[in-house]
Amino acid sequence: MTPAADTFDAIILGAGGAGLMAALTAGQRGRRVLVIDHAEAPGKKILISGGGRCNFTNLGAGPANYISANPHFMKSALGRYTPADFIALVETHGIAWHEKTLGQLFCDGSAKQIVTMLLDECAKGGVASHCGEPIRDLSHADGRFMVTYGRAQASAPQLVIATGGPSIPKIGATSFAYDLAKRFGLKLVEPRPALVPLTLGPDEALFRELSGVAAEVVARAGKTAFREAALFTHRGLSGPAILQISSFWRHGESIGIDFLPDQPTGWLRDAKRARPRAGARSVLGALLPDRLAEALAERLVLAGELANLPDRALEAAERRLADWRFTPSGTEGFAKAEVTVGGIATAGLSSQTMEARAVPGLYAIGEAVDVTGWLGGYNFQWAWASGWACGQAL
Ligand code: FDA
Repeated sequence: MTPAADTFDAIILGAGGAGLMAALTAGQRGRRVLVIDHAEAPGKKILISGGGRCNFTNLGAGPANYISANPHFMKSALGRYTPADFIALVETHGIAWHEKTLGQLFCDGSAKQIVTMLLDECAKGGVASHCGEPIRDLSHADGRFMVTYGRAQASAPQLVIATGGPSIPKIGATSFAYDLAKRFGLKLVEPRPALVPLTLGPDEALFRELSGVAAEVVARAGKTAFREAALFTHRGLSGPAILQISSFWRHGESIGIDFLPDQPTGWLRDAKRARPRAGARSVLGALLPDRLAEALAERLVLAGELANLPDRALEAAERRLADWRFTPSGTEGFAKAEVTVGGIATAGLSSQTMEARAVPGLYAIGEAVDVTGWLGGYNFQWAWASGWACGQAL
């Protein structure tokens, strides 16, 4: 016989960044909250994030740094819970941090400090939690959600879907949020792996030859461009510029790489006037890593001294170097993706509270929702902000 259900004001499914933030916020507002997670411990993605130091926010986080079918949806939550709010919390707990680059804030010590901080705040709010057992059943009747997990049952008038997206299944990520959303009639925006390395087909030999080389480039997909490092790997391309652009890329589309974003138009023709006896290989070698310069000069078929090459050929080479086109064969998929683009459609949710319009008492937050940040602390800021907005409403 199943024991009688414990009753709560809210049950939160998923003890990641978003779920814990919603729990501590609601708990500290006096709500009786239960958090359930099938992983044996909470906050596993936080622990592996930012190379173990958790890039917990970005000083410049704003709606422009997010991808969603509705680019306005995240405005309310991001505006009400800002990077400064999270920094204040971090500082209250004496966690030392530093800005690495581009507004990205990391712990000086370890990502564990962020998980400990969130759990301490949950404890202050009297939040109950249960980790390490699967959710066996979930039903909804008479305005209450009933959840069976392990051998226990709990019920509440409010249920929060905070089980994230399917990226990195080996640490417990699942598509559970989408299954639940569909069950309650919420729509999905097709989920795709994002912030993920791109793979190359057999005809992209150039990049494979360069495995191990890194260079600062501008990577472009459609109208979007990111200037950061790209890394050539034996499977394709990685590095921050590529991870960023992968979130915007769709199968079949091409990507353009500008290998020399600082060079002004006409620079190769000017080099011919300045150093007529030099070859393209050595001119490129002064600007790019050696192996990259060599491979590009070879592909551009710029043999011999610059003096002997027509300006037309140099201008064509310049254009190619500024927009080197290739079509990825795919991505390394959810197994390697840092996040998921797409998810529970925002059209069915309130941007103030994250509550489903059609199912009073049901909420969705964090990565489960169709809001995806750039690389650089933006995804955690969304987890905190959406969790906080929901926690205020529970
Ligand atoms: P999250 O995935 O964190 O939590 C969901 C929880 O639900 C998990 O605890 C999971 O076990 C649980 N769950 C899943 N299915 C379940 C089921 N069926 N039943 C019960 N529980 C279930 N972002 C950033 O801003 N800065 C960074 O430095 C990094 N670094 C980074 C590194 C790596 C390797 C990855 C994979 C990702 C990042 N990210 C990041 C992204 C960031 O980790 C991510 O956006 C947030 O963790 C999302 O928080 P959520 O709480 O929404 O989901």
